Amino acid sequence: DWTTTNVVDEQVELIRRQVGDKQVLCALSGGVDSAVAAALVHKAIGDQLTCVYVDHGLQRAGESEQIEKDFVAAIGIRLEAIDAEEQFLTALAGVTDPEQKRKIVGREFIRTFEATARKVDAERHIEFLVQGTLYPDVVESGGGTGAANIKSHHNVGGLPDDLQFSLIEPLRTLFKDEVRELGLALGLPETMVYRHPFPGPGLSIRIIGEVTRERLDILRAADLIARTELTAAGLDRDIWQFPVVLLADVRSVGVQGDGRTYGHPVVLRPVTSEDAMTADWSRLPYDVIERISTRITNEVDEINRVTLDVTSKPPGTIEWE
Ligand code: XMP
Repeated sequence: DWTTTNVVDEQVELIRRQVGDKQVLCALSGGVDSAVAAALVHKAIGDQLTCVYVDHGLQRAGESEQIEKDFVAAIGIRLEAIDAEEQFLTALAGVTDPEQKRKIVGREFIRTFEATARKVDAERHIEFLVQGTLYPDVVESGGGTGAANIKSHHNVGGLPDDLQFSLIEPLRTLFKDEVRELGLALGLPETMVYRHPFPGPGLSIRIIGEVTRERLDILRAADLIARTELTAAGLDRDIWQFPVVLLADVRSVGVQGDGRTYGHPVVLRPVTSEDAMTADWSRLPYDVIERISTRITNEVDEINRVTLDVTSKPPGTIEWE
């Protein structure tokens, strides 16, 4: 029968048996799946695990710190954190097309991860790579039975042939809510365990227009207010995701104090969903929307207007890009 203790014990045993005295690598994204997978593998083999975190500078406020400090403190993991903000922003300079942004972030991520994997491999010869694949992903890709913990050699997400690792996928038999329970049992902070989904390209696809550090800072400030107020209202678990989108190339006239302003709008995009395939705009209480709006326009100088996206998916997507 399913208890977190059973699952943890069983997986720890499996991982130990498969890995032996070999070395293992894991990429952390900031999301719950990779964090729980890493915590589980760490419980099984401790110091034989090295985690890599590529900080692309497109995270929300406090998220890199959460990985680099809270996660490391909670689990005691060896972490290679790569500060690649400059590199990503340079690669994104002048780019406004959404698909282009995605391609660039994906490419730079693989480049950086590959270089880091090579470095760690040279130090301690890596045999295995951890991935936070869940049961629904396994089913979707036609891998059905779900019992196997480790797949054979596999070309992982664009890594070159000479960097081939065997995959460890300790979450292959689990659903999202089970992964969250496991995360809590393994001592991960609740903020990490209940984090909303966040796209790989990060805030780059929530800035409509070119991505610059200034714009990222503006969006981070607004996004933090929205998240803080949602949490304060106790509504985190009622909604699926709450993107805040900066219309960086749009300005509108406003008035504040005695002065005319000419600032940017942000869009609040709270949605409910089961699986992100379809979604509905969330009927957040107006008083919560009001607090968010007032705080953003008061506290973020460059923003003078807050709008609410009331589009379902379809026809809208969850993200604006
Ligand atoms: P859309 O905007 O297509 O998003 O309704 C559906 C879900 O996917 C996330 N999303 C992404 N995740 N890389 C990702 O890893 C991406 O390029 C990407 N684009 C969208 C989005 O946040 C939502 O949860």
